[in-house]
Amino acid sequence: MGTRKLISRGIRKKCSVVFVELTNFYTQFSSISLSDQGELIWGYLFEIEELANKYEGTVYKFHWLRRIMVLFGVPKVHKDDEERAYRFALDVKNLARKWHKELKNISMDNPVLNVRVGINTGFVYYGIIGQQKTKYITVIGDTVNLAARLCSIGADKDIFTTGSEVKTYKDIFRFGRGKDITIKGKKESVKVYKLIGYRMTGKAKIKSFPFVDREKEIALLNSTLEEYIREKKNKNVLVVGDHGMGKTSIIKKFRENKNVPIYHLSCFREGSAIHYKPFKELLTRLFNIFPTDSEGLMIKKIENGLRELDPSLVEEAVFFEYLFSIKEAQSKVTFIPFSQRKKRITFSFVNLMKALAKKKAVMVLDDYQDIDRSSKVVISRAIITDKVPMMYVFVSLPKQDKLMDSINKEVVRIGGLPRDYAVKVLKQYELFDDKTIDLIVEKTNGNPFFIVEIIRYKMANPGKEIWEKEILQSVYSVIMERIDSLPSKLKSFLFICSVMGISFYIDTLERIIGEDIKKNIQDLCDYGILYVNDGVAYFAHSLVRQVAYHSILMEERKGLHKLVAESIEKYHMDRIEDFYEILAYHYLNASVTEKAIDYTLLSAEKAKRFYANEVAIEEYQKAIKLMGEVENRKKDIPVVLESIGNLYNVVGEFEKAIQYFDKSIKISVKDQNSISVITSIEGIGMSHLYKGEYDLSLQFLTRAKQLAESKKIEYLLPRLQANIGHLFVQWGDFFTALIYYNNSFNLWKKINNLEEQTQTLKNIAELHIKLGNYQLSYETLRFALNIVKNKRTEVELRLLMGILSLEIGMLPKAISFFEESLNLSKKIGDRVYNIRSNIFLSYTRSSDNKKEAINSLSNSLKEAEIIGSKPEICLASYYISLIYAELGMMKNATKTALKGLRTSEIINDKVNNIRFLILLAKLENSTKLGTKAAAKAKELNSPILIKDALLLLGEMEEKSGDIEKAVEYYSQAQSILQGIVEYLSGELKNSFLSLECNRRIIDKMSKMSGRKF
Ligand SMILES: Nc1ncnc2c1ncn2[C@@H]1O[C@H](COP(=O)(O)OP(=O)(O)OP(=O)(O)O)[C@@H](O)[C@H]1O
Ligand SMILES: [Mg+2]
Repeated sequence: MGTRKLISRGIRKKCSVVFVELTNFYTQFSSISLSDQGELIWGYLFEIEELANKYEGTVYKFHWLRRIMVLFGVPKVHKDDEERAYRFALDVKNLARKWHKELKNISMDNPVLNVRVGINTGFVYYGIIGQQKTKYITVIGDTVNLAARLCSIGADKDIFTTGSEVKTYKDIFRFGRGKDITIKGKKESVKVYKLIGYRMTGKAKIKSFPFVDREKEIALLNSTLEEYIREKKNKNVLVVGDHGMGKTSIIKKFRENKNVPIYHLSCFREGSAIHYKPFKELLTRLFNIFPTDSEGLMIKKIENGLRELDPSLVEEAVFFEYLFSIKEAQSKVTFIPFSQRKKRITFSFVNLMKALAKKKAVMVLDDYQDIDRSSKVVISRAIITDKVPMMYVFVSLPKQDKLMDSINKEVVRIGGLPRDYAVKVLKQYELFDDKTIDLIVEKTNGNPFFIVEIIRYKMANPGKEIWEKEILQSVYSVIMERIDSLPSKLKSFLFICSVMGISFYIDTLERIIGEDIKKNIQDLCDYGILYVNDGVAYFAHSLVRQVAYHSILMEERKGLHKLVAESIEKYHMDRIEDFYEILAYHYLNASVTEKAIDYTLLSAEKAKRFYANEVAIEEYQKAIKLMGEVENRKKDIPVVLESIGNLYNVVGEFEKAIQYFDKSIKISVKDQNSISVITSIEGIGMSHLYKGEYDLSLQFLTRAKQLAESKKIEYLLPRLQANIGHLFVQWGDFFTALIYYNNSFNLWKKINNLEEQTQTLKNIAELHIKLGNYQLSYETLRFALNIVKNKRTEVELRLLMGILSLEIGMLPKAISFFEESLNLSKKIGDRVYNIRSNIFLSYTRSSDNKKEAINSLSNSLKEAEIIGSKPEICLASYYISLIYAELGMMKNATKTALKGLRTSEIINDKVNNIRFLILLAKLENSTKLGTKAAAKAKELNSPILIKDALLLLGEMEEKSGDIEKAVEYYSQAQSILQGIVEYLSGELKNSFLSLECNRRIIDKMSKMSGRKF
């Protein structure tokens, strides 16, 4: 019977025939009974069948042959049947790997079970075969025979195909070189190819996406750059546009062929609390820093780099090192008060930018909409305050921003590509017909990113028509499809990358994964998903990362975050502080809440150390929210609330501070947590103190003190006593303050806190100077200097010793103390105390050369202004005006004194305020000012100042001829003087009496009364 007769209603159709054979099956399962073997075969074939169903192939099983035949194109036809056949074959190959794992799990070592595949595409006869009773659907023909034959000739895991259309698919799949094989029953040999795997879309192609249009925008950037180079002035450009419009691309183009350095930095932070993000990136770029560098190497890189840039910058090194949490730097910076640190770091960056501006560098701040506050402070300081002659380019999504509104700038708005240009991009690779191109341009509104993603998608899936899919709906769906079409192993790798963040060090990821990942990275680069620069991998676009990230299943995502977090902990243990924010972020997303809380708190404290107070407040608030979710952390919430309160006190938002302390009290009362209740009441007391509401402050502080006493929480008492002392100092009641300071000192002593003891002694000595108790002050300081351990306190003590010596008139002693404090402040890198020591030293030496003294004082003043330290501004101004007055340069003296007076009022520095008033009264010969000064001095209860004011008033009255009044003032001054001198002895006494102002009082009184004193 001929074939023709058997087939009824047969159809000739093109289809792809795939044979899959299980190999080594009997070897693998030789120990199993025959009937069990039969079942096993069904099981394995069934898994293959499932894969076939995935690609909509039609399955025929021949289980006795351990074979399966799958047809693509019969009966259902797809446009891409051959491609489906190939994909199916590659999946089957992967399946064998899965089986091996399973077999190993049931302790079958070295599994041998495998598959081989043959594929052939051609025409087949398809139809129903046989008579009424035995008819079944089948295909026959040479095509089928050849496919079966190809399956037989392969070794394990081989996929052989006759590549009638191999060329068509070479962009998607990789094939081995073709071999001529003679097949039984065929005269001519057949060209056979081995299907190896998927092809990475060619990198060259992706790279050569032509950059189109944007001439106008780049021209504006170029002309601004020219102006900047010519005028050496600050220039700003703002580039705005929606996601994917090509802002970053424009910058890349702008950077090409420029002979000035252009630093392209990203402000993007992944929603973590990192501060100084773009500036840290600048440093790593400038100095070639890697997170895996040892601390020593980092220090070396930073210091050498700075020296090369500008030797004077080496001074700033410690602050940059501090930013990278290098321990050596940390120990130096701890001596700088919190309130100065941020200013100091800002100052360092501004200096760095000044040096870069000299090299005509340009800073591009990309993703500016995400900039952190600390960086913003630096930028606004550089542009607005210091007018650093640097060119900045801000690249941002359209978003309102106060800083941007307040600076002079050019604005470049980036919209979609004009139609012609969009078409030009789309036509490059002849992937689409005109109709499709129209459709794409319309749907994408010329958004270049959207367009390029569609091209990439089409390249990876040449067989697919883009309008069949719903991918044109949004750029997200194109990216999603593109990710989906990656080989599954690469896809998993991409997911891990997306968890790492928008950019990551390849080394770090390699450590996490624990194997060589260069190939995977390269593959993702070839797909245009990543690009690599200097060991750092970057996502080509943030949206690609976002889509990849969000397509990971929730549970898996958590696991990956945990993996990344744990690896960071493991590999960066020695510099873990640099990673607090990142760890908080990863643990939060890993739902490891306890750890997330820990690191959020740590990052808040770190922010506090950098004086990034707003960031610290936000982090604490985040932590509180998380703590509410964990039962055994709830009890710590009041402490965090208090921390927020304290921070609000620091930044001067006292009402908010009080609110937080109140919240803390409410919870603490409920939890019967007395300590928190007391410290929160203390916090409120401090808020009122800072607000100048002394009565209220006293009420709260006393209440806290009483509670601490009644609850016997003794360690809180010395601080409370000291705070009440501070309150009375502010209030001007020095005597009461002294009592509290003394109490505080004794309590610190009782609990053996040496550091606080010396601090308190310093406060006491300072008060004694104000009270004119020089002898006591001197002895207190001597004692404190003997026990002091903390270097910072030591600087303060030596400074005070100098001041005391200066007030008593022992100039050589004063000079040597100031010299000591200067050296020590240099050693610990404390700029504020450095300036302070310099001021005193210059003034004390001024008798030798007044002009030189004014010069060096002016330098100190300038430095103080740069770091914005008002107390030093006050001091320097005072001494400058004093020397001007001595030189008879009254105009200069008055001008400087007026400026200082204003500053003293701003910072509520009462002592200097009175000193300025006295000086100005003299300069302007104003009785009114003199009276005002005397009244204020009395209010402050400072005998020294009262005495000076009285002398001044006496001299004024004497000049105006009212001798009677003059005598009265003089005698009052004289009795104060006597009171002070009474407690002085020996050298101190003589020196003090020979001071010019005191001599004058004594002379006047002798002259007027005719007696000697
Ligand atoms: N002028 C252009 N010509 C050709 N392709 C472009 C052009 N501009 C952008 N592209 C393509 O679009 C992609 C996205 O552009 P780019 O990353 O510059 O956007 P963006 O505006 O910076 O987006 P985002 O705000 O999300 O950072 C680029 O990778 C590039 O492939
Ligand atoms: Mg961008």
